Amino acid sequence: MKFIVCDNYEEISAEGAKIFAEQIKKKPNSILGLATGSTPVGMYQNLIQMVKEGTLSFKDCRSFNLDEYYPISPDNDQSYRYFMNTNLFNHIDMDISNTRVLNGLAEDAKAECVKYDEEIDAAGGIDIQVLGIGHNGHIAFNEPDEKLICGTHLTSLTESTINANARFFEKKEDVPTQSLTMGMASILKAKKIILLASGKGKHQAIAELLDDTITTSNPSTLLKLHPDTTIICDRDAYEG
Ligand code: F6R
Repeated sequence: MKFIVCDNYEEISAEGAKIFAEQIKKKPNSILGLATGSTPVGMYQNLIQMVKEGTLSFKDCRSFNLDEYYPISPDNDQSYRYFMNTNLFNHIDMDISNTRVLNGLAEDAKAECVKYDEEIDAAGGIDIQVLGIGHNGHIAFNEPDEKLICGTHLTSLTESTINANARFFEKKEDVPTQSLTMGMASILKAKKIILLASGKGKHQAIAELLDDTITTSNPSTLLKLHPDTTIICDRDAYEG
């Protein structure tokens, strides 16, 4: 696991975008693993800028997103599909039909999850995956637990995650309590992973990435098993 410690959020965003752009230039038909949440937004803005300047093209890329609330309509402005369209896909030259987000309206959640992992495998696997991290060390919606789940699955969100997400909803009762999420093995199969973290609130989770142990009580520590993971964080997240 490699660390890049930046001075601020702008630097994290630029660094993340640089690594993504290098990957896409090296392999124009890359399979991208994408995340929502506030952290990758700056990186997406940098990538949009590169497309506008004509220095980067997503036209041959395909993407898979980490997770989606369940149940939720893709038209709901709090859905991750809506988030991805407004924060990235609507502004780049990627064919929207090549962007895949878990279907928050799938009647059979389990079948949708199995199909998702099959689609990723059939595409040849994810070339580069961007991750954020929860205050409790969750990645995607793999929350701390005694056991973690390997494949894409339906999961209940913890109180801590529901509270963190509440800022996006009018009332706490509106915050979804379940989601569809890629599992730990689905994420660890990505060929290259970058994890972005900013702010003191992420320090406790990041601090556990610095030693030589893994624990399911901080799912992000399992990334230590991955051969090509880079943590890109600011000093607040790194030093506390
Ligand atoms: C989002 C996701 C989550 C977020 C995490 C951090 O697709 O999978 O694990 O990455 O909750 O969220 P932010 O970036 O808002 O702090």
